[in-house]
Amino acid sequence: MTTHQLREMKSRGEKISMLTAYDFSMARIFDSTGIDVLLVGDSASNVMAGHETTLPITLDQMIYHASSVIRGVDRALVVVDLPFGSYQGNSAEALRSAIRIMKESGAHAVKLEGGSEIKESVIRILSAGVPVMGHLGLTPQSIYKFGTYSVRAKEEDEALKLVSDAQLLESIGCFALVLEKIPAELAKRVAELVSIPVIGIGAGPYVDGQVLVSHDILGINNEFNPRFLRKYADLNAIIKKAVSSYIKDVKSLDFPNEEEYY
Ligand code: KIV
Repeated sequence: MTTHQLREMKSRGEKISMLTAYDFSMARIFDSTGIDVLLVGDSASNVMAGHETTLPITLDQMIYHASSVIRGVDRALVVVDLPFGSYQGNSAEALRSAIRIMKESGAHAVKLEGGSEIKESVIRILSAGVPVMGHLGLTPQSIYKFGTYSVRAKEEDEALKLVSDAQLLESIGCFALVLEKIPAELAKRVAELVSIPVIGIGAGPYVDGQVLVSHDILGINNEFNPRFLRKYADLNAIIKKAVSSYIKDVKSLDFPNEEEYY
């Protein structure tokens, strides 16, 4: 899967499927299903490391997750989040961070949060030939600025800034855009205005594709239940049942039986 193929999918109206992945084994399973894009999201900070926000995860940790995912992938395009503090306000550092991700993990593209504020960083990374995916709307790396994870751009001035940021990111060369937690009508307006693919999370159906966090759709974490999430499995219950059975079998000497040892 390439950035060009994603653009062609948008032109022919074929929806793009995207999911987060953080490790080799899951990436291998996801890739075998035909998923179009795997995002090594900085949500690894939450779902893999147990932090409350995405801010603590480091560039080294993102590279570790990304290189594990890359080893499990034959087909999907792998996009990696530049973590908080590795690109904001310093385009030379942004380029260094993006190059480390590409060189040390083998990823195919990077994702950055923000619009006009990070224009110089995006331009510099693109000038090195690294494809960039933008991310607007709810940008979790700015949680302490927003103060809440509620729906963004409901007010006209924020909606106008989002539209102009989307056009800016397209004009400087981003290959795609994630829109997180904004009204569906605004996401529709953006998807119609720009020719690059727009992938939504909590942004309604009128975009070019959807992305969700894999731990959420698989039901690993029971405590996160936003309106935009659809759960496709209850792995929390399945894993608990399997581990409880294992404990019971160990305690009762049922495991291992004569066919399970040498
Ligand atoms: O880090 C992440 O998982 C993301 C998605 C929510 C788009 O950025």
